Amino acid sequence: MSKSHFLLIKNSIFILIIFAGLQARAKEGMWIPATLKAHEKDMKAMGLEIPIEQLYNENGTGLNNAVVLFGKGCTGEIISTKGLILTNHHCGYGSAQGLSNTEHDYFANGFWAKNQGEELPCKGLTVTFIRRMENVTDRVLAGISDTLNDITRDSIVTLHISAIEKDFMKSTGMDASIKPYFKGNQYWVAITQTYKDIRFVGFPPNSIGAFGGDVENWMWPRHTGDFSIFRVYAGADNKPAEYATTNKPYNATEFFHINISGYKEGDFSMVYGFPGTTDEYISSYALKQVYSIADPISIAARTRKLNVWTEHMSLQRETFLKYTSKRAGVANGWKKWQGEVEGLKINNATSKKQAFEKSFQEWANADKTAPYADNILSQMRTAAEGVDPLLINDQYNKEAVLGIELIQQGASLEGVLKCFRLNLPETALRDTLQKVMKGMEGFTKNYDAATDKDVFISLMSLYFSKCAATLPDYFKAQYAAHKEDIIAWGYDIYNTSILTSQDKLNAFAASAGTGDSTKIINDPAWQLYYAINTMRKDKILPVLNDYYARMRYLNRLYLKAQMMKDKNKIFYPDANLTQRVTFGQIKGLKQGKKYSYQTTLGEVIALEDSTSDIFRVPKKLKDLYAAKDYGRWGVNGTMPLAFIASNHTSGGNSGSPVLNSRGELIGTNFDRAYEGTMSDYYFDPNRCRNISVDIRYTLFIIEKFGGAGWLIDEMSITGTQKKAKK
Ligand code: ARG
Ligand code: GLU
Repeated sequence: MSKSHFLLIKNSIFILIIFAGLQARAKEGMWIPATLKAHEKDMKAMGLEIPIEQLYNENGTGLNNAVVLFGKGCTGEIISTKGLILTNHHCGYGSAQGLSNTEHDYFANGFWAKNQGEELPCKGLTVTFIRRMENVTDRVLAGISDTLNDITRDSIVTLHISAIEKDFMKSTGMDASIKPYFKGNQYWVAITQTYKDIRFVGFPPNSIGAFGGDVENWMWPRHTGDFSIFRVYAGADNKPAEYATTNKPYNATEFFHINISGYKEGDFSMVYGFPGTTDEYISSYALKQVYSIADPISIAARTRKLNVWTEHMSLQRETFLKYTSKRAGVANGWKKWQGEVEGLKINNATSKKQAFEKSFQEWANADKTAPYADNILSQMRTAAEGVDPLLINDQYNKEAVLGIELIQQGASLEGVLKCFRLNLPETALRDTLQKVMKGMEGFTKNYDAATDKDVFISLMSLYFSKCAATLPDYFKAQYAAHKEDIIAWGYDIYNTSILTSQDKLNAFAASAGTGDSTKIINDPAWQLYYAINTMRKDKILPVLNDYYARMRYLNRLYLKAQMMKDKNKIFYPDANLTQRVTFGQIKGLKQGKKYSYQTTLGEVIALEDSTSDIFRVPKKLKDLYAAKDYGRWGVNGTMPLAFIASNHTSGGNSGSPVLNSRGELIGTNFDRAYEGTMSDYYFDPNRCRNISVDIRYTLFIIEKFGGAGWLIDEMSITGTQKKAKK
């Protein structure tokens, strides 16, 4: 054999080995538990040690019974036979807020029930169990052709769905809900039970559960003890029941065993939970709208808003308290989208999509199995490019104009005006005013007019500079009337509107009588709202809604054709807030610098800043650290805190159980690393990492910090500590 031949062979073997290695590592996908069997070989090759049937089976004894939809958009896991649930701190935040007051400030002090009697009912909180899933595509789509128009199709599908759901409810005695998968090419029914008596059990103070705040949000390394504990209560028959003191803890036959022996780089891991929304099969044209329109405009508008808020919050403690939670929400999307734009760019996601589209087009031209495939891409392109200008305009309408709190609040006067317009009797007017005043109480509780006025000035300047050609007439007229001075206009609005304070609104309500609507019609907050809303309703939304409907149709056919093209590839459905399993490996992150896959309590102590709201460390935690009093949970004098892995997760996976190769609980998922937030559109195993709290940190905080060891007694804990990481 010549030397070059030998090298060639050697190189191809080398490439094969690398490729096989990558294959074993790179695991994109969020799988429906009932379809996991198809991945068993893959998962076993990566390290899975249990049969798939333990994760999900048709007999109803799988771990799917221990993974709940927590509230409206988080995940939780059952960790004892007595219905104990583990989820994130930020998922329990709303419940904690509902139970907190100045006397019981659970954000400042945490909460630890000392026994079941001390567990607190959470009004409005529910958790939903998924008992079984079944593919019902054939029944839902019976008699419907792929290319039937969506209006007819939707009406038939809706009829079919409600009939099938009724059948399942009758035969199971439980709830049934059917959702579309693969953009409507498949339908699955989930048989579910929703429990309504959920109680608050354990909640670390923010100085642990939200440590690092917005600064560390979406970032690795991370030091947040982002967990909280609840309990499901059931009626005497163990079935869902309204809150009652006679309810008893839900008796769980399936729950997670906890393993405290830790993990090392390369170990297999899985995340079982409810990812909310992804769009992985998106066309390059629609992807371009995300990173060149939606994301950058939202980021620009929110940067301005956050700057104003931050300044006012630093000037006045009262403003800080009013805006801290709102700020977290606005900043959460703002930061994620920045990571998304960067990640899509660095990965050349668009050129990769374009390359795929080229091969798709070649296939479609040659292969006629999907007769509609050959002109799908060109139709998508024409549709997308046609709406780009409108999308840009509307993104500014939403983020820059409707992002101003007072203009949003202007909508509340619409109902009052209706009373005048329809000449309703005085009593109707009084009722409506009463409701508006009540709503205003909630609004003003977290509102500062001086702050919002500065937001108005900043966002309106942006709006006028970017949307000069499409301004609503009212905006133009007001601008001219104020001598093109947005600051003067801002002062005028916030001085005149009856919506800037409860007193002004109440005074108006007291004096308002039927027939006198001028004050509202002249109110600038209402006028601004009315002008922007009318423009959107008349000129923008009809076109955009048509576009979205058209894309829904084309996307369904496009995905169907993609699945015909790559017959041997196993496709996973985009996230839709239904139960999924994703698998990957514990893995550090190399971005310039190499970051370990794990953080420890020692790093928290090093980050401590007693002058900062988010880097303050509670004294008790410092004492435990100084004494190395970690109980069974430490590893050779270190306390593991958080870790990362290459599991494909999304928003909604917050609170999800993170499992080892035996399906045992090793952590609770709570975030993704900045570098990989683009995974909702494009997953790259080199950059995408999910972030989890180590279960040992959770147990340490419960036992040593919270003094709630009685909770640990009801858990099932296996494993012993291995050597500390190097
Ligand atoms: N980024 C996480 C998620 O998307 C955590 C958000 C809560 N934490 C925060 N600092 N705002 O939900
Ligand atoms: N924090 C997110 C949530 O609330 C999870 C992070 C992500 O988007 O992956 O679901």
